[in-house]
This record gives sequence, structure tokens and C-alpha cells, in this order.
Amino acid sequence: MAKLKLGVLISGRGSNLKALIDACKGDDFPAEIVLVIANLPGAGGLGYAEEAGIPVQVIHHRDFPDRERFEDELHQSLKRAGVELVCLAGFMRLLTENFVNRWWDRLINIHPSLLPAFRGLHTHERVLEYGARFTGCTVHFVRPAMDDGPIIAQAVVPVALDDDAESLAERVLREEHTIYALAVRMIAESRVRVVQDRVVAQGASAPRGALISPILHRHGPRGSRNPHDAKAR
Ligand code: GRF
Repeated sequence: MAKLKLGVLISGRGSNLKALIDACKGDDFPAEIVLVIANLPGAGGLGYAEEAGIPVQVIHHRDFPDRERFEDELHQSLKRAGVELVCLAGFMRLLTENFVNRWWDRLINIHPSLLPAFRGLHTHERVLEYGARFTGCTVHFVRPAMDDGPIIAQAVVPVALDDDAESLAERVLREEHTIYALAVRMIAESRVRVVQDRVVAQGASAPRGALISPILHRHGPRGSRNPHDAKAR
């Protein structure tokens, strides 16, 4: 079957992009990256794309007189490349309603907290300051409000007593890399529908024992202690 064509938008180091590139290398992975766009010329992640032979483009927002024209350029490039799903991966520009509407339910983002908690920047610092015992990450469809939209997948990460923002970011990032590929796979396999602005997932399964949702069944098969080991019955 034809693979779903992804366009990935980045601004920085691109570790989530790298995780998607690695996932796409799997023969059975149902998506491929056809274009990577950075809005900053020095974005480190561009190197990962180039290494993998994926076309890259720099569309520097400063080269455009306003957001609309910057986003028009993004839109045209994505269309030209035949992109079917846009993945924001550390893309640090807020997108206008106009752009979001053009890619409605075909535009996803990864955020390093358990949304709707801790939207915005500096999530790990704020989680620690608040004293939350759990944090995590979320992949969601993008809506015009910041870090808002139907949730596709989340992973939960416990906060350790001796965590600082850096150590927490590192553990959350590891889970980001897992759930971004999981969410893309689910969409590419048409196992995700948005109904009344909420995601209904079918036949979901998480790849390993971390607390990742959606899972297939509320309870694993009899005797199984880990719901993620559940197999369809
Ligand atoms: C990640 O923590 C992601 O959740 C957030 O920005 C960061 C990007 O990291 N939106 P990277 O560029 O993918 O390494």
C-alpha cells in the first residue's frame, strides 16, 4: 500500500524528526517523509534530513513581511511535495487559524507535557515548580489555540524527587520519540478518527511497557499484568 506522505516542520535540534526518520526506515512503517522545512537557517535537525537523503527547505519567517505570506509559502511547498500529513516537531512559530484550517485534521504536534496541563514553553520547569508527580508528552491534532486539539497519544513520565528540568526533559523526550512514531503509524493505518473534536482510536497498541495510551484493551488477557501486552481477542 502507498505510504502516507509526511512533511515535518522544525526550528531546532530535531530529535523528534530523527525519531520519525528512523521509524520510516522500517519496511512495514506506513509513512515516509517527503519534505523537511525549517524556519531557521541554522536548525540542527536539517542535518538528520540531509543525511537521510530527504529534501529540505529553509523558509525563514524573517524573509516575509507578515505571517500570512510566510504561511502561504509553507503551504505551497507542502502541497508541491505532495504532503498529506504535516508533523510539527519543535516548530517554534505559532500558526494562524488560516493555516490550521487549511490542514485541519492533517496537522499534528508534539508537546512535552500531559495536555491540557502545562501548555506553552518551559514546561519542565513549571512541572517541577508546581510539584506535579507525573508529567509526560502528548501528540495532538492542531487547533488554532496554542497546544490545543484532539489528543492522539500520550505517555506518562513520573517526576523523580531529585529531577531537575534537564533530567526530566531527557526522560520525557525519550517517550516523545516513541509516541510520535506511534501516532503517525495510527493515522497512516487509518486507525484514528476525529469525532466531535475528540480522537477515536481503533486497534491501538503501545509498543512497550511504559504508560502509553491508547492501548487496545482496558484489561490485558487473563493473567497478563501489563495492559500493553494485550493482544486482540
Ligand atoms: C520537544 O520537546 C517537543 O515536544 C517540543 O519541542 C521540543 C523539540 O525537540 N515541541 P526536538 O527539536 O525534536 O529535539
